[in-house]
Amino acid sequence: MLKNKNIVLGVTGSIAIYKGVELARKLSREGASVDVVMTEAATKFITPMTFRSITHRPVVTEMFELTSEFSIEHVSLAKRADIIVIAPATANIIAKIASGLANDMISCVTLATKAPILIAPAMETNMYLNAITQENISRLRARGVKFVEPISGTLASGAEGIGKLADIPEIITAIENILQLNNDLSNIRIVITAGGTQEPIDPVRHIGNRSSGKMGYAIAEAARNRGADVILVAAPTNLPDPTGISVIHIRTTKEMQQNVSSLVDKSDVIIMAAAVADYRPVKSCLAKIKSGKQNLALKLTPNPDIISGITGKILKVGFAAESEDLITNAQKKLEKKHLDLIVANDITASDSGFDVDTNRVTLIEKNGEPESLPLLPKSQVANVILDKVVKLLNTAKNSKVKK
Ligand SMILES: Cc1cc2nc3c(=O)[nH]c(=O)nc-3n(C[C@H](O)[C@H](O)[C@H](O)COP(=O)(O)O)c2cc1C
Repeated sequence: MLKNKNIVLGVTGSIAIYKGVELARKLSREGASVDVVMTEAATKFITPMTFRSITHRPVVTEMFELTSEFSIEHVSLAKRADIIVIAPATANIIAKIASGLANDMISCVTLATKAPILIAPAMETNMYLNAITQENISRLRARGVKFVEPISGTLASGAEGIGKLADIPEIITAIENILQLNNDLSNIRIVITAGGTQEPIDPVRHIGNRSSGKMGYAIAEAARNRGADVILVAAPTNLPDPTGISVIHIRTTKEMQQNVSSLVDKSDVIIMAAAVADYRPVKSCLAKIKSGKQNLALKLTPNPDIISGITGKILKVGFAAESEDLITNAQKKLEKKHLDLIVANDITASDSGFDVDTNRVTLIEKNGEPESLPLLPKSQVANVILDKVVKLLNTAKNSKVKK
């Protein structure tokens, strides 16, 4: 898909630079013309020769080097770029670009370009979470610079935390999305639910669950990037509203059901990624329940099963969060709720399911074999789910044409 695209790849002085080599290799293999620009610090980690051998292009390391193909007109790279990608990006380069500095070739090209800019940060957790780094990132975001967020894991120092460079496929997907090479959901309207519904017990307390909404939001953003018209019906989360997506905020399962039912007739796909409360209190007290020494019995009644109640031509995707017999239970749910696809995840693993950035899921299509994915960032899981959705939509369209 990247054939004939001119990508300027800025690499900086991060220990994650070895992944920059892999990125350069993959981009070149996909047919892109990759011009690598290295900071001086980057050359202390890896020699320019490595990138040159992979890209078969000159590597720019010096602003004032006469032998470089691009050095005389330092903005020529900025002009020929379809996209500028900086991966790995140090805290230093992010700060420089946010401040409008131009004293090395990457910051200079970035300031001079009209092409979209994608930054993939990689650094120690404290450097990344430092308020000044976050402020620099926010400033750049506000100016339209895109970011592929770092992931959590074991860092070079051995410490655990956020700051690892995003996985290469995720960076490539972001490049494809920015260049709008992947518009396979254009003219498709998708309703996505996310977060965990809350059922009030009294004005202060509620029955809730551990869902962070991250998976549903990741699907919504991925669908938007692939050209879909997305409506997100969101139960309470700590996540900001994504741009370019209509977000309807609700609290209870009943509110979610009302909103979803009013949308399904005009939509092509429903993806129920929300963790809905299966039960709600029979009675929600208007006044706060006082503390006491007696046992307190809370009588619960089942909530409506939102997805089972949806009929018609809409493609239905459900989630099964299970703590035992994952596949069997997910298959039962798929059949009982008449779904086209179910995404099963084992919520007992610490790196998958609730409130983490990664997920390990199994996809099961109607009449299909279970397909287990490895542990992946939720943004990548989102794209695999959407690949299936595109396939199922195409199958449905073709069978309609045949009839
Ligand atoms: C072994 C080593 C690893 C480093 N890794 C990182 C890193 O991952 N992220 C980062 O922001 N800085 C890292 N630094 C610090 C940067 O290399 C330093 O801030 C440098 O000035 C960045 O220059 P540049 O942005 O021009 O490439 C590292 C330094 C050393 C010595």
